Amino acid sequence: MFYEANKPHGLPHNPFKAIVAPRPIGWVSTVSKDGVKNLAPYSFFNAVCDTPPMVVIGSSGYKDSIRNIEETGEFVCNQATLDLADAMNQSSAMVGSDVDEFELSGLTAEASKLVAAPRVLEAKTALECKLVNVQRLIDIDGNETNSWLILGQVVGVHIDESVLENGMLNVAKMKPLARLGYMDYSVVDSVFQMDRPALPEKV
Ligand SMILES: Cc1cc2nc3c(=O)[nH]c(=O)nc-3n(C[C@H](O)[C@H](O)[C@H](O)COP(=O)(O)O)c2cc1C
Repeated sequence: MFYEANKPHGLPHNPFKAIVAPRPIGWVSTVSKDGVKNLAPYSFFNAVCDTPPMVVIGSSGYKDSIRNIEETGEFVCNQATLDLADAMNQSSAMVGSDVDEFELSGLTAEASKLVAAPRVLEAKTALECKLVNVQRLIDIDGNETNSWLILGQVVGVHIDESVLENGMLNVAKMKPLARLGYMDYSVVDSVFQMDRPALPEKV
């Protein structure tokens, strides 16, 4: 099948997010300028470069996380793993901006090293970030959307010793969650290696 993305697809649910899958989950913790802690999962999330390390978050609407990031210039991207799936889901509840989702989800807000936003103590890894740019997205017709893009630079990296083996992250042991489409998730629990292609020999 083919459909034009701005026209009805005729399917029971929009397949877009099932196509762009798996997506890592940036479990974003922030603090408001009034000191209220906030935590929410964002699967429009990824690393975009490593020199320097930078991440992006996409928000469908101007949500508390985006407001806090814009107001304070700081945030943490914690990684959600299988053991924390329920807590991660709980933290996505649409609650008022006065509600601390750490408390709501039974998680521990641990002080970060370099940013004011706390991190999730239970998360196996967490990236402390400083805001580079917030952008309201404009579509191909020049119309303002209600979607927002956060670009952040990673300034601090936490790794739980339990997932480090011989100095390398054991991702299969860590079991990061991935978001698919619909209400589907996946878990990274098996890993394989491939060497990069060798350069062809000169003739
Ligand atoms: C696994 C998962 C991934 C999500 N990803 C996004 C996302 O990428 N962008 C978005 O706007 N909302 C996303 N949501 C919904 C937000 O987490 C939800 O709207 C939340 O209430 C926002 O909280 P905040 O207002 O405290 O930022 C996701 C929810 C779940 C459960």
